[in-house]
Amino acid sequence: MSDFKKTVFPAGFLWGGATAANQCEGAFDADGKGISVADTMPRGKDRFSIIASPDFDWEIDQNKYNYPNHLGIDHYHRFKEDIALFAEMGFKAYRFSIAWSRIFPKGDEVEPNETGLSFYEQLIDECLKYGIEPVLTISHYEMPVHLAKVYSGWKNRKLIGFFKNFSRVVLNRFANKVRYWMTFNEINSAMEFPALSQGLVVSSGAQDYTNRFQAWHNQFVASALVVKIAHELRGDIQVGCMQIYAPLYAFDSNPVNQFASQLKQRAFNYFTSDVQVRGYYPSYFNQLLKEYNAKVPEIKDGDLEILKNNTVDYIGFSYYMSMAINVTNSEKSDPASGNLMQGVKNPFLESSEWGWQVDPLGLRISMNDLWDRYQVPLFIVENGLGAKDEIDDNGEINDYYRIDYLKKHIISMHDAMEDGVDLMGYTPWGCIDLVAASTGEMSKRYGFIYVDLDDYGKGSLDRIKKKSFYWYKDVIATNGAKLE
Ligand code: BG6
Repeated sequence: MSDFKKTVFPAGFLWGGATAANQCEGAFDADGKGISVADTMPRGKDRFSIIASPDFDWEIDQNKYNYPNHLGIDHYHRFKEDIALFAEMGFKAYRFSIAWSRIFPKGDEVEPNETGLSFYEQLIDECLKYGIEPVLTISHYEMPVHLAKVYSGWKNRKLIGFFKNFSRVVLNRFANKVRYWMTFNEINSAMEFPALSQGLVVSSGAQDYTNRFQAWHNQFVASALVVKIAHELRGDIQVGCMQIYAPLYAFDSNPVNQFASQLKQRAFNYFTSDVQVRGYYPSYFNQLLKEYNAKVPEIKDGDLEILKNNTVDYIGFSYYMSMAINVTNSEKSDPASGNLMQGVKNPFLESSEWGWQVDPLGLRISMNDLWDRYQVPLFIVENGLGAKDEIDDNGEINDYYRIDYLKKHIISMHDAMEDGVDLMGYTPWGCIDLVAASTGEMSKRYGFIYVDLDDYGKGSLDRIKKKSFYWYKDVIATNGAKLE
């Protein structure tokens, strides 16, 4: 890692933060909003196994479980206070998502819910008031549950039309105010867990990878159609794809592990971006289908043309960790927890309290790999450390561990830029504490701003500035020159 004396990022670099509607807004059934898939996911470390069980049917069971995201951090009612705090930190950009079911409660209606649109209009205007660029994710793990239940999610081609209608409505309304967009959050996550991004569970065929590939194909076409609509609306609009990127290292120099990591790397990290950035299915596609025992998805006339003509403008990605792959002597290595993915523990890395392996240099490796492969601008739209924060006797939150994590990643991203990578911006995840996606907990915190709320929904909801708040403010004010 470089000797980091003075780092200056390019003028116009988009420093900011990121959230998602289903994890912070709360007001889950207010003002005409419909229930989303995220609203049916209970709190707890076993939430993913509950969702992955054969009986899961998208029902909310208040007697059995609790659902912290129903309240979120009440950003729906407190967004003005929150955005004022982002402005105080000097944010240049704020990434957030539009809850699909706030605009189309069931997803298959023709006419939108005006109250939902007007909420996002106010949110966008509030950002613009402070000179903060809104960066919008159209779909972040929150499709209307009706689409998952009745249509079996994205494996059904009808969703292309519903998503196109939803996107057209929000683009028509906001394109004049919003330049940066992303279609699907972490579209590749379905390789491991298709419930969130594809609305597929066991009862609708999640176990069969043919359905996942079909769902991806439908999402690719839908995303490309949205790129087309956006480009027709505004010449300088930027629409990105969005994926998890987590480098998958071979555990050792055994070629068998090297090859296994190459296969996994391309299945997890490259397949979706190969299609969305290059505009065509990669030459390894048939091999990939074989590996996952899947049939070729149904591709209609004209689909490939749509993909080819409407590629994305940039690659948005989340970066939290790396993984190691060991297929030769896996009994000698422990499994590692990860952001919707699997691998083994890397003995050279430390892990977060939730077992995510911290690897700042991996970010430089990832950025170089992505840039070398695609040569389109990158945007780090998520990064951060989920940790338990304590308020000390002076009422302060000294989250030096978070500062340390972010500092190392900023150094690494700067190094990658010096290597020649084009990076548009950096929006760390959960810039204000919010409900975790993998566990539904409040106690897994990422923010610069603490929210007084526990896992059981108790607390004043007051916002408190952490030590990292002041640190990040300096980072932005000096355009990255001051990291200490
Ligand atoms: C990403 C998601 O996978 O990771 C976010 O896009 C999520 O929605 C973030 O919150 C961190 O994961 P978690 O489980 O710690 O909230």
